[in-house]
Amino acid sequence: MNRKLWGGRFRKRTDPLLEAFSRSLSFDRRLFQADVAAGRAHAEALAAAGHLTAGEMRRLTEALGEIGEDIASGRLGTGGDHEDIHSLVLDELVRRTGEAGKKLHAGRSRNDLVSLDTRLYLREAAGSLRAALADLQEALVSKGEEYADLIFPGLTHTQHAQLVLFPHHCLAYVEMLERDKGRFADASARADVMPAGSAAMAGSSLGLDVRLLASRLGFGSVCANSMDAVSDRDFVIEFLGACAIAGMHLSRLCEELVWWSSSEIGFVRLDEAYCTGSSFLPQKLNPDSAELIRGKTGRLYGNLVAVLTVMKGLPLTYNRDMQEDKEPLFDSAETLAAALPLLAGVVRTLVVDRSAVERALAGDCSAASDLAEYLVARGIPFREAHDLVGALVRDCLRRGRGLEDLTLEDLRRYSAVFAADALGLLTPEGSLRAKTTYGSTAPAQVKRSLRRWRRKLGRRSEG
Ligand code: ARG
Repeated sequence: MNRKLWGGRFRKRTDPLLEAFSRSLSFDRRLFQADVAAGRAHAEALAAAGHLTAGEMRRLTEALGEIGEDIASGRLGTGGDHEDIHSLVLDELVRRTGEAGKKLHAGRSRNDLVSLDTRLYLREAAGSLRAALADLQEALVSKGEEYADLIFPGLTHTQHAQLVLFPHHCLAYVEMLERDKGRFADASARADVMPAGSAAMAGSSLGLDVRLLASRLGFGSVCANSMDAVSDRDFVIEFLGACAIAGMHLSRLCEELVWWSSSEIGFVRLDEAYCTGSSFLPQKLNPDSAELIRGKTGRLYGNLVAVLTVMKGLPLTYNRDMQEDKEPLFDSAETLAAALPLLAGVVRTLVVDRSAVERALAGDCSAASDLAEYLVARGIPFREAHDLVGALVRDCLRRGRGLEDLTLEDLRRYSAVFAADALGLLTPEGSLRAKTTYGSTAPAQVKRSLRRWRRKLGRRSEG
């Protein structure tokens, strides 16, 4: 049994049930890099304040570096019976450096240390998730470029509403993912405040230079209140919120992929490499990648709600309940980190069946709103135009015809305002070209947006 960091005042052994119940090493070992970095910076601050000699500081810094490398390579295992990663690193440091190692924990507590480590972890995770989101954006832009001229049904209520360009649909997700990147940047910025020096909760008397600590660890600023510093977990909650929202976006995209690849719709084919089969139905090619990503969103929401609930009603300052922030945090970060490149692969390799899309558009009356706007532009009040085109659509449907089958004479039976140029709207291309608002699906707009995103995201990556 390893010596406990807090064993001094205890005479009895901890009940093994509590020991097992409270141990966090199996998951907080993910903080080892952060813990080592925090330890090295702390050694420097202790030396600067005169509590370590230069030689002791060097030994501690070196040994901490080695401990980090040994954990990374597996030479130093993390499967043992230490309470948490902080205890493991400190214990190992004392084993390797003796007296000097025993001095490192001066002026700090695991309360400020765990907050520091978690902030460092989160900053790193937010950075890689932003890069992974950018890569998924790139995959969507590439797919949009590949099918730049494909006209696609735009839906509301899952009913055909207006025609759009396929890249317009892809770019809608690119915009969502851009906001997700922004949310991770925000979460990271909020966590970019250094809590060390707060010790257990009220601060330390050892004259530590917290600015030095912040600059060594790359923090923009220092926590202004030691009680807040050790009890704040809203930065974790914000990160989990960003994960949940990003997961919601991925889930919507996945739902569309599942639906588009369904036997009924058949707009897209997911690459075999991203599908699995059935143990019973030999013919099956199931979109499990998209389904699983859609399903994983459940745990991203659950993790957010779990930490919100843990924190609700906790008195200041640190309470052990707060250890329960770790598994949700790691789980969300890792779930998204696994889902994003997988989905990028799915998108890069998917094939759109142009003729299935074309078949679906036949006779769908998607140009109805264009006809109504045609009348508005020529002085008819919109409500009247809406009624008039509504009647026109009803008659078409009754006769089993599409709007595209109408002649000028047909149109003029409903309004004398219709002239030959109205027929142009009844072709899919004409319907798209008629749009003039910024951000619309007008081909010139979509082309500009594709070019803008391509410039922003960099060159096409090999898919
Ligand atoms: N494993 C703990 C956590 O994650 C570290 C802090 C423990 N502090 C304490 N005083 N028991 O919160």
